[in-house]
Amino acid sequence: MTQDELKKLVGEAALAYVVPGTVVGVGTGSTVNCFIDALATMKDRIAGAVSSSEKSTERLRAHGITVLDSNTVPSIPVYIDGADEIDHRGHMVKGGGAALTREKIVADTAERFVCIADESKLVDVLGAFPLPVEVIPMAAAQVARRLEALGGQPTLRAGVVTDNGCHILDVRGLRITDPAAMERDINQWPGVVTVGIFARNRASVCLLGTAQGVKTLT
Ligand code: 5RP
Repeated sequence: MTQDELKKLVGEAALAYVVPGTVVGVGTGSTVNCFIDALATMKDRIAGAVSSSEKSTERLRAHGITVLDSNTVPSIPVYIDGADEIDHRGHMVKGGGAALTREKIVADTAERFVCIADESKLVDVLGAFPLPVEVIPMAAAQVARRLEALGGQPTLRAGVVTDNGCHILDVRGLRITDPAAMERDINQWPGVVTVGIFARNRASVCLLGTAQGVKTLT
């Protein structure tokens, strides 16, 4: 199976986790796009969606799915999103699509985070994928210096302005052996909006697309 076929497989499998009659949290990315397309088949059985990006909002609305303002939805049973990397404990690196901040906000309102990913995303230790860090533009150089002091090699993602009007630093060369500690540290530096480590908001379940079918990791 191709990577696109695996993404479609897990996107469709995620429908089983949607709770009918409730609001669904929707992530961002090519795997989530497959989920959104599948969600359209049950759009009359959900109360709407809270979206993590302008791109996902556009796709949801194109399918006729109601997108609600996150401020009006205090909690959601399930958030479905992809990942750039996921380890065996559900910790993730996210933000390859520059939507990490809104993704973490929606994930934080959810009772369960269901990660959908093809098997190439499963790793033993996070960090081979460059870690995205969303920063307020005036803090980019200072945050980059701090990331270098941690042993990383940050580069500014060229030409990208996030949905929040901010910039992204992509950090190569980090071996993230303690995701919770690194998330906590980087998040408190002045000018950091969000670091793309999802440890506090880690996945409760991962639907992994493999050549043998969907594997469920809990
Ligand atoms: C976007 C994300 C995505 O979930 C991540 O980049 C995975 O995307 P894809 O499903 O296209 O591989 O974090 O900010």
